[in-house]
Amino acid sequence: MSVTALVGLQWGDEGKGKVVDYLAADMDVVARGAGGANAGHTIVLDDGTKRVLHLLPSGMVRPDPLCLMGAGMVVEPWQMVSEMKEAGLEPSTASRRLLLSPRAQMVLPYHRILEERLEAILNIGTTRRGIGPTYALGALRMGTPVGLLGHREELRAWLQRMHDMVAGFGSGDLPDPLEVLESLDAVSNWLLSTTGNVTGELHRARAAGKRILLEGAQGVMLDLLHGTYPFVTSSSTTATGLAAGVGLGPSDMDRVIGVVKAYTTRVGEGPFPTEEHGPAGEMLAQKGGEFGATTGRPRRCGWLDLVALKWAVRVSGARELVLTKLDVLDGLEEIPLCVAYEVPGLGRVEDMPEDAWLYAKVRPVYEMAKGWSSSAGLSDPHVRDYISLIEEFTGARVIKASWGPRRSQMGEP
Ligand code: IMP
Repeated sequence: MSVTALVGLQWGDEGKGKVVDYLAADMDVVARGAGGANAGHTIVLDDGTKRVLHLLPSGMVRPDPLCLMGAGMVVEPWQMVSEMKEAGLEPSTASRRLLLSPRAQMVLPYHRILEERLEAILNIGTTRRGIGPTYALGALRMGTPVGLLGHREELRAWLQRMHDMVAGFGSGDLPDPLEVLESLDAVSNWLLSTTGNVTGELHRARAAGKRILLEGAQGVMLDLLHGTYPFVTSSSTTATGLAAGVGLGPSDMDRVIGVVKAYTTRVGEGPFPTEEHGPAGEMLAQKGGEFGATTGRPRRCGWLDLVALKWAVRVSGARELVLTKLDVLDGLEEIPLCVAYEVPGLGRVEDMPEDAWLYAKVRPVYEMAKGWSSSAGLSDPHVRDYISLIEEFTGARVIKASWGPRRSQMGEP
């Protein structure tokens, strides 16, 4: 039996979709346990076709794995149905491929409206998919789990409650609860057809010796507790958060693999010590095609931050790394690597300050790595040196590295 958790170790967009797709080839089960349609997992098939999944686990792109969506997820019903249709699923047969926990919270128009209101005050730069309000209202015990779709009267009363509560925030015109109920009626058979006992299925699969992949969303630096608060998402993005989101315990995980991009990007607001505002940042954005898969927003770009990465490795428990997008660095003479921070009042430190406001004031200290002309095949010794530096600094082993979007452009260093 084996359970592998795969998590992003930066601010999301590390290329998890590609890595999950690669690993899914050997998996019986692929499960998501946190986040929602704020994620955008891009997979490029070998014929060049691109698929972007926001809610469904990336294992859907493969013919075989059973895909599970756990209690820790937040699911927008209409988006879910459109992704099910795109994946060729039908209500009569969907549950053979896809199971959704009735405990997952639904994202409704009220959550999105509330997010607009909150963003005007907080300016986090969220994906505006209603993620934060859905988790927050869930925590307040005012959420709307998917299972409520099977209880129309209770759902109606619940929608009225939510309407009245959001109205209390002075959110202007709100959709009538009956209208929301009717638009849910139009999709509820799709969601209910795929609703099932995700945690039970997962434990059965584990006991039967099946290979299980837990697919993380976002990245550790966006974790609600351990990321760059308040510029974070509203869920736990670590491996333990992921396991909790599907109903597995920490000791049920056999491997934790972290995905790292060879440089760093961030979408939305918040501190980013190695950000490059000049031509280097533009070069990374252009060569890396750094535009958000969910929102289309340009991503902020900069060099690899080993201090933040070490923190993310520790917090996530990742012992193995997959390094992505090395090709974006091809052709550079030298590549800056951030190995410490200059912190006001503290001098040079090699650990991530926990005080978020202090973190906003740190300056990166760089060491220069030698560049390479082509990372293809990972044979250039300077590519290997770059990988070794990452391993030495973080204490985790790089098991795979990729030099392009296709399934075939990934190898062992
Ligand atoms: P939210 O998750 O929509 O609430 O957004 C909170 C922060 O997380 C914002 O900075 C978003 O840009 C960022 N974020 C959320 N999901 C992703 C993702 O999948 N990739 C990269 N950034 C993300």
